[in-house]
Amino acid sequence: MSIDKIVSLCKRRGFVFQSSEIYGGFGAIYDYGPLGITLKNNISQLWWRDMTQLHENIVGLDSGILMHPKIWEASGHVGAFNDPLVDCKECKSRYRADDLVEKDNKNTEWIKIQCPKCGTTGKLTEPRQFNLMFKTNIGPIEDDSNIAFLRPETAQGIYVNYLLTQNALRLKVPFGIAQIGKAFRNEIVARNFIFRTREFEQMEMQYFVKPGEDDKSLNEWKQKRISFYDQLGLNSSKLRFHEHGKNELAHYAKEAWDIEFEFPFGWSEIEGIHNRTDFDLVQHEKFSGKKMEVFDQQKNERFLPYIIETSAGLNRILLAVLSDAYWEDKDNDRLVMKFHPKIAPVTAVVCPLVKKDGLPEIGRKVMDLLKPHFITIYDQQGSIGKRYYRQDEAGTPFGITIDHQTGEDNSVTLRHRDNQQQDRVDIDQLVKAINDSMENY
Ligand code: GAP
Repeated sequence: MSIDKIVSLCKRRGFVFQSSEIYGGFGAIYDYGPLGITLKNNISQLWWRDMTQLHENIVGLDSGILMHPKIWEASGHVGAFNDPLVDCKECKSRYRADDLVEKDNKNTEWIKIQCPKCGTTGKLTEPRQFNLMFKTNIGPIEDDSNIAFLRPETAQGIYVNYLLTQNALRLKVPFGIAQIGKAFRNEIVARNFIFRTREFEQMEMQYFVKPGEDDKSLNEWKQKRISFYDQLGLNSSKLRFHEHGKNELAHYAKEAWDIEFEFPFGWSEIEGIHNRTDFDLVQHEKFSGKKMEVFDQQKNERFLPYIIETSAGLNRILLAVLSDAYWEDKDNDRLVMKFHPKIAPVTAVVCPLVKKDGLPEIGRKVMDLLKPHFITIYDQQGSIGKRYYRQDEAGTPFGITIDHQTGEDNSVTLRHRDNQQQDRVDIDQLVKAINDSMENY
């Protein structure tokens, strides 16, 4: 299956739109339509619940996108957050050098590498480093004294707030701080739809542990994080770990593992799990001049915790969910998005069979019954078959039809999206029937 089919469905059904489409699109940035934003929110809410509600020692934070520029010097992003950039002098195409090396069987002699676009050899420039951070200015005057950066990761907002958070909540190591928010990277080549974009969302959790307990904690978080994806209904055979080799490690990491998903374009990272040691806290001590240590009451001494980071890309997870759910049901000539009912953007559609005989009025009452529990929509346009197929494409797991029997015995049909089975259910039992079906999915 090609990614183009997903791109087309996303536009048609209102999941994802190209940014500024009427102007021809803009910079590999995407907007999320009504179904996309709900699906994205459902995923991030599950993550937030998993982190902050199910772990007593993990709390939330929402820090600014713009922060003091010294933070990015301290973190190493000003100096080291670079990608190697290569230009073709013939056709003016621009590439990430590491991508070209991979495509050309790891040939690193630039003179021998062919430009993938125009096919010329010997015209590629030597790689030069390109910093991925977006710059802006604070205040009305644009000069070097007031430069600010759009954050390239949400993590630093956690590090610079970690002692305030710890004191405010009287937290003891080990504890974690979770944050969901936008991050920005001026990617050289943005590609694969919402997989690599210049504006995206991260769901990051920084776990502060005693030095020496970091390896054990990293292993625990690896297992917790891979099992999180069960809740989203992702096929576990499409998930795997990839350990970073020495050359791949980010400047802050002692050990790093990616969780990869098998996308239509191949295995690619959706989440990184890193042992960042005390790298960031040491750097912030150095650059701010402030102590970043916590107090160990048992030993009566101060120490710098080590940090285990879990860093998931919300947009990439959304793309994984969309790719995994896409199902061409050839037997029934329909396209179905098989979202897990717990994250589907719409849980149920209520359809009066006809627009007369009091059925729409009953339909409205059923809507009032379901709305407090589930995201429910009402549809009385077109034949019932067409209405169901429209909802199959949107991934709505339950269809409720009000027919003439409803007036007689207060029952409706409950249609299940994947197998199209229909059960007769009493209206009073509808909420329970949907909840049971969601639990047993
Ligand atoms: N704080 C650590 C950090 O940012 P990362 O591996 O650079 O680590 C973490 O990024 C996650 O953020 C990735 O696994 C990916 O899901 C997401 N991500 C990174 N760059 C992205 C981009 N350009 N577009 C979409 N998601 C991106």
